[in-house]
Amino acid sequence: MNRKVTVVGAGNVGATLAQRMADRELADVVLIDIVEGMPQGKGLDIQEAAPVEGSDARIIGTNDYKDTAGSEVVVITAGIARKPGMSRDDLLNTNCKIVKDCTENILKHSPNTVLMVVSNPLDAMCQVAYKVSGLPKHRVFGMAGVLDSARMRSFIALELGVSVENVHAFVLGGHGDTMVPLPRFSTVAGVPITELLPKERVDAIVQRTANGGAEIVSLLKTGSAYYAPSSSTAEMVDAVLKDKHKVLPCCCYLEGEFGVKGLYVGVPAQLGAKGVEKIWQIKLTADEQAALDKSAAAVKELVGILKL
Ligand SMILES: NC(=O)c1ccc[n+]([C@@H]2O[C@H](COP(=O)([O-])OP(=O)(O)OC[C@H]3O[C@@H](n4cnc5c(N)ncnc54)[C@H](O)[C@@H]3O)[C@@H](O)[C@H]2O)c1
Repeated sequence: MNRKVTVVGAGNVGATLAQRMADRELADVVLIDIVEGMPQGKGLDIQEAAPVEGSDARIIGTNDYKDTAGSEVVVITAGIARKPGMSRDDLLNTNCKIVKDCTENILKHSPNTVLMVVSNPLDAMCQVAYKVSGLPKHRVFGMAGVLDSARMRSFIALELGVSVENVHAFVLGGHGDTMVPLPRFSTVAGVPITELLPKERVDAIVQRTANGGAEIVSLLKTGSAYYAPSSSTAEMVDAVLKDKHKVLPCCCYLEGEFGVKGLYVGVPAQLGAKGVEKIWQIKLTADEQAALDKSAAAVKELVGILKL
């Protein structure tokens, strides 16, 4: 293989993402971190699983950005994660410096890359990477909606006792307490869940989805979720590498779409080799638009603190 994906940050999300991509033979993977030896150790461990997994992907761990040169896709997962009682917003200033540093280093060696951000607070960190990289907006976007939708899909499938493969869900807005799960567009075999479940069960699923990250943090006590986040990111990388034109909820830079201007917010986007090919502007009800406006306002406030 010679297609290359770099994962910046070899912690829980980064290393699990590297493992998933290597197992699926998506590309060769470079895992980079500031901690010496750790990405090399994890990279070697994943490499040694390859014969058993039947994958010819090459994995290297490194502390040197030279090894990342020529990456088609780079995923930034570097930064601190939440602890119980912390909101994603509490990570703002620390992760801003980290994402800035990673973006600058990546761009020196992979100026043509598609850049995906995972570090939290997600929407604000996308804004940092966009600003620092100077890349066109279609090549900088973030992962959150696929994860939030996957959580909602899981809860719907569990509630109705049906296959997860039958369930689609849509979550828009910022990746925080104000995210906007949309029951109207969440379906089982094409049937909206609003026709399958009483309102209070739909509301409970919406609430559990919005609280999905915090639920895991409070159980783990140290660190935050990484299995579902890495699966969700791998799906987005797959869509880009295979030029799939796949519609997924992604954190994208908006210039008037959904009434939002100059801000990264989660919306349905079509992903292909170039990155974001198109934003799907679905018609929202007044209530849904009001919820999205509120979510965008929360992102704007956070980004304002950074004075980018
Ligand atoms: N967008 C989402 O939906 C989503 C989901 C889960 C986690 N996250 C976020 O992803 C980030 C990573 O989470 P995690 O659980 O993997 O955390 P983690 O602590 O396990 O790993 C973070 C890694 O980043 C590394 N790092 C720190 N500064 C760095 C730098 N300047 N350059 C390179 N590496 C650096 C650390 O050494 C560490 O290994 C957190 O900010 C978390 O909140 C986002």
